[in-house]
Amino acid sequence: MDAFVIEGGKPIAGRFEVHGSKNACLPMLAATLLTDDPVELSDVPHLEDISNMLRLLGELGVEITQKAQPSRGGRVVLASVVDTSLSHARYDIVRTMRAGVCVLGPILARRGEARISMPGGCAIGPRPIDLHLRGLAALGASISLANGDVVAKSPAGGLRGATVFLGGPFGSTVLGTANIMSAATLARGRTVIESAACEPEIVDLGRLLISMGARIAGLGTPRIVIDGVERLGGASRRVMPDRIEAGTYAIAAAMTKGELTIANWPVDALVGPVEMLRSAGVEVELSEHQPLDTPGGDPVLATAYVRRGGALRPVEITTQPFPGFPTDLQAQAMALLTLADGNSIITEKIFPERFLHVAELLRMGAQIIRHGPTAVVSGVPKLVGAPVMASDLRASAGLVLAGLAARGQTVVRRVYHLDRGYQRMDEYLTGLGASIQRVKENALEEATVAV
Ligand code: EPZ
Repeated sequence: MDAFVIEGGKPIAGRFEVHGSKNACLPMLAATLLTDDPVELSDVPHLEDISNMLRLLGELGVEITQKAQPSRGGRVVLASVVDTSLSHARYDIVRTMRAGVCVLGPILARRGEARISMPGGCAIGPRPIDLHLRGLAALGASISLANGDVVAKSPAGGLRGATVFLGGPFGSTVLGTANIMSAATLARGRTVIESAACEPEIVDLGRLLISMGARIAGLGTPRIVIDGVERLGGASRRVMPDRIEAGTYAIAAAMTKGELTIANWPVDALVGPVEMLRSAGVEVELSEHQPLDTPGGDPVLATAYVRRGGALRPVEITTQPFPGFPTDLQAQAMALLTLADGNSIITEKIFPERFLHVAELLRMGAQIIRHGPTAVVSGVPKLVGAPVMASDLRASAGLVLAGLAARGQTVVRRVYHLDRGYQRMDEYLTGLGASIQRVKENALEEATVAV
């Protein structure tokens, strides 16, 4: 396992270009199962989760070819279904990447039966899929459990359109919406998804499906209407930029009193985080907006210039479904606010247990009191370096940011969590002025023994 050794206190400055979005790309890759024609995706990021999804697609009869795409640091993936007899997403893969669940709707719709290992909980709390299953059942699927697998079967004559309500105790479900919307593209008749997720990644998936021939209206709203078609065809599409990667690098500049120009900034997807940064006293300027260069009413891009001159002000953050503040930036925002001049309040309304980073930030001198889904962060003038443990993807990012701003050395262990969702973060941050070394954890132990 790898760890990062960070020497803190160096400003993050220069230019960074945001990569393609992991969370948009995963359900888009799953959607390639819906057609026998080739689907080409560009700006596919180099990440562990994407490699696992490509492996899963391979096991489900999809031939994958890839080519490098040096211009934006991603790759072009061409996916073509060559065998439709396979329908089992095994535990070995789904346990490494919960997003494996988003092959469920596409396999069921195209092959009439899907068997997928039931995803377990994870470090950010329980992750049920009851809403996915309720939605597929509304389309006529029969659902059962066998040996830890969910087995879904289409009725004779295939899935049929229906009204599906996807509201749960914490709002809609992002991947549940992806699953139902994808399955409904090939169902007979009209499907109406009420309380659909409005996240930009779902809009991006919907636009891919439309370019494959699907009939979908209402993307980006809580009511999505899908009129099923007989078949879908091939398409070519660029994956939208990763709003969470963009927000994380902006916070890195803000925490280290740096100055960063961030290209490929998805403007509409980041309104909430920009508002938070400005309220905290961080300057965020957006250049003229440009449309993404693919057809179909695409996300608008800009170049963001992020800088912090003076003190950080405390802010109040509540994570919410889009367009609210994203849960996937909560840990990074908390790291930032540990250095604010006063008390900030953070309430987590999507995953109320997503606070494993709190104990690690305390080890670095932060002052945080957690009460259920709320944390009160009392700013301190300085964080101090310490050995800390990454527990999940975004918590790891929060700890790396804290390490960049802290006085002295921080060692972040288990950075494999980070590698699932941030492309070569150590190398990019080093290029922007940070001091980060990737080392093997056992080398750290040997070094300690040698001392
Ligand atoms: C997606 O997960 C993202 N993952 C997560 O990003 C993100 O944190 C989350 O959406 C919320 O924005 C991917 O896109 C691959 P949900 P998803 O279903 O779809 C409850 C990251 O760091 N719920 O929208 O699995 C659930 O427990 C990851 O990149 C049910 O109750 O999340 C949660 O409280 C982590 N029943 C809330 O809804 C269900 O059937 C939202 O979950 C499904 C969900």
